[in-house]
Amino acid sequence: MSILIKNIKQLVQVHENSVTIVKGKDMKTLPILENAYLYIQDDTIVEFGTMDFCKGIDAETIIDATGKIVLPSWCDSHTHIVYAGNRVSEFVDRINGMSYAEIANRGGGILNSAKQLQDTSEEDLYEQSIQRLDEMIAMGTGAVEIKTGYGLTVDAELKMLKVIKRIKQDSLAKIAPTLLAAHAIPSEYKNDKASYISKIINELIPKASALRIAKYIDVFCEEGYFSIEDTAKILEAGKKHHLIPKIHVNQFNILGGVKLGVDYNALSVDHLEELNKDDINALKSSKTMPVALPACSYFLGIPYTPARAIIDAGLPLAIATDYNPGSTPSGNMNFVVSTACIKLKMTPEEAINAATINGAYAMGFSNMYGSITRGKKANIIITKPMDSYAQIPYEFGHNPIDTVIINGQIL
Ligand code: NIG
Ligand code: FE
Repeated sequence: MSILIKNIKQLVQVHENSVTIVKGKDMKTLPILENAYLYIQDDTIVEFGTMDFCKGIDAETIIDATGKIVLPSWCDSHTHIVYAGNRVSEFVDRINGMSYAEIANRGGGILNSAKQLQDTSEEDLYEQSIQRLDEMIAMGTGAVEIKTGYGLTVDAELKMLKVIKRIKQDSLAKIAPTLLAAHAIPSEYKNDKASYISKIINELIPKASALRIAKYIDVFCEEGYFSIEDTAKILEAGKKHHLIPKIHVNQFNILGGVKLGVDYNALSVDHLEELNKDDINALKSSKTMPVALPACSYFLGIPYTPARAIIDAGLPLAIATDYNPGSTPSGNMNFVVSTACIKLKMTPEEAINAATINGAYAMGFSNMYGSITRGKKANIIITKPMDSYAQIPYEFGHNPIDTVIINGQIL
């Protein structure tokens, strides 16, 4: 199966040599080819160039992209899309003045989602979750990290991991599975957090590892959830089973989770709505990707991650949706790219780098995803006609997508 996309107005994020991360000042550069073609065979990007060099190339399917932009699919490195039901009533409670913390303290929040998930069959959970993923794919996302964390019992966390595994087998999207059992303290362990942590360490991590259904380990390192000491214990246990950390840190309070993540060679540290100089310095001497989640800040009305301070310090930055029922009920990466420009003051080039190659890095996939490079997977967005790629973030809330190609298949 071969596809030729021709007359492309701008082919975006084109790299002759495989790139795996973009940092600091380089994030302002987004390499493009004007008036270009792209040739795909099976699931792989095989060739590209300007239209002058397209003569003689034939393909089973030819797409005329006159006036359109072509770019790599979005790489969404932080989601919680496996969940049951929703938390619409808490949304209304927040509008009426309750805070996210107050709702959590009365047994709502993550515990509300855990109750709903525990009462939902694996089959039903799969159906609800894959539907969310299909909507994300239609909006241009081609690689997605998916966390557990709404099970909060050994069985329900394993049920979530099995659902993620089925999604991974059935979907064309590339999936990264993460064990986030330490997402909240279940009500039955309210006064005995240590026992829940030892259950995670002694039972859940070994079981998940034996089934080979988790690649990453996550902890919600936050006041009222898991402390630095708790987080260190869990990451240590994960390490013994080769689970790589990708952790929730600095959403509401700075506990020192960034430095801890760096010490444990975390692939990413995510949220960072709160950030200080020590955090930036810790990241400077690391391979850890900071990840901003602007749609979460938008929905909860909390501060936006200081992207400028991060990038201007020479660091890389990725952006992701955080799609989940409580803090970000949206999986729209186009909105995230817009919000990164509008609220985090990132340039369109920086935002697109953050949502493609750096997002792929934050899932450990950037050797195969996140740029238009020969040999990488053919996960492609073709936009509606527009003046330039900057129109994607400019027209916030609009759908810029015309066609999506995922793993070499046109959807
Ligand atoms: O990343 N902060 C922790 N976890 C999610 C929200 C979970 C929820 O409210 O259901 C987040 O924002
Ligand atoms: Fe999250």
